[in-house]
Amino acid sequence: MTRTPVVLGVESSCDETGFGIVSEGALLGQGLASSASQHAEFGGVVPEIAARAHLDAAVPTLQIALHDAGVELGDITHVAATSGPGLATAVHVGLAAAKSVAWALDVPLFGVHHLAGHAAADTLEHGPLPERSIVLIVSGGHTSILAIGDLVRDPIEHLGDTLDDAAGEAFDKVARLLGLGYPGGPVISRAAVDGDPAAFRFPRAMMRSGDPAYTFSFSGLKTAVARTVETIERAGDPVPVADIAASFEQAVVDVLVAKAVRAVKDRGLDTLVIVGGVAANARLRAVAAERCEAEGIELRIPPPRLCTDNGAMIAAVGDLLVRADADPSGLGIAADPSAVLHGAQLPLPH
Ligand code: KG4
Ligand code: ZN
Repeated sequence: MTRTPVVLGVESSCDETGFGIVSEGALLGQGLASSASQHAEFGGVVPEIAARAHLDAAVPTLQIALHDAGVELGDITHVAATSGPGLATAVHVGLAAAKSVAWALDVPLFGVHHLAGHAAADTLEHGPLPERSIVLIVSGGHTSILAIGDLVRDPIEHLGDTLDDAAGEAFDKVARLLGLGYPGGPVISRAAVDGDPAAFRFPRAMMRSGDPAYTFSFSGLKTAVARTVETIERAGDPVPVADIAASFEQAVVDVLVAKAVRAVKDRGLDTLVIVGGVAANARLRAVAAERCEAEGIELRIPPPRLCTDNGAMIAAVGDLLVRADADPSGLGIAADPSAVLHGAQLPLPH
């Protein structure tokens, strides 16, 4: 008799060390450590510091995940790890840890595409994805609109990406220029609570008719915020941080929601899934909920703790792969730090 699969997921692509344990679509438990505070003074993630932090955190965080899930290491039947994209040195640490566990337990290993993990995170909260849906991925490194079918069986279709900065990167850069620290998303959100989102009319790029419908660009917005701050400072006036934060946030959110909703309608679908670190943003969640309600679209966004990087989302992909009877990747797989998302497993099976 085959054992019920108990899948360990390992995430280390950026500054979060995550281990999650998933069985048949259910999250049993997880452990998460972050080196974000060690990067704060640099205004962005320093790869070498992140890699060292993963090495420090790996074993204790795995122990926390096992304890949280109420399982023993020997109960794990499969291991899944982010094999890309991400910071090369950071991915290497988690992947090496995953290989060690898989080898020691003599269980199969699956390499997982980090961004497929973000999409799978939603299944832990809302159950299986519908037959077809539009997924808006908004993270620190990526901003894409995807058309997906079965997440682990079908190819993933890119409808559009960002031409320059990712949405999360824009939050991080604007936070740095407002002197708010890193990561930018949560601090901008907090500052924006007391601000007026209509105080400044920042640009909404790629929104003219004739512009590519699903393509984003955020670098002009960041420059516009920088110019506004410079002008105010040159005049010797205090910088209205809350108003700038709220207006910036509104500009990002307006474009994200407009394009994602348009993709759902153009494709004749009825489900929008929003995932990735920026999906934790309260204004994005509220505006998307309002627009989707008005358009009769079902909106799925994981709870904030499953939006930002974690091991559970990687375990969720592993669990789907196991249940789809996918061939394991094997212990020889390499990291692919700049992998484009074509499928959930990375490298793609032949
Ligand atoms: O998905 P994620 O944890 O890591 C990557 O795969 O990149 O996303 C991190 C990004 C960072 O840029 C961070 O500033 C942003 O997500 N973020 C947010 C919020 N929380 C995290 N952006 C806006 N609002 C938030 N509440
Ligand atoms: Zn991520």
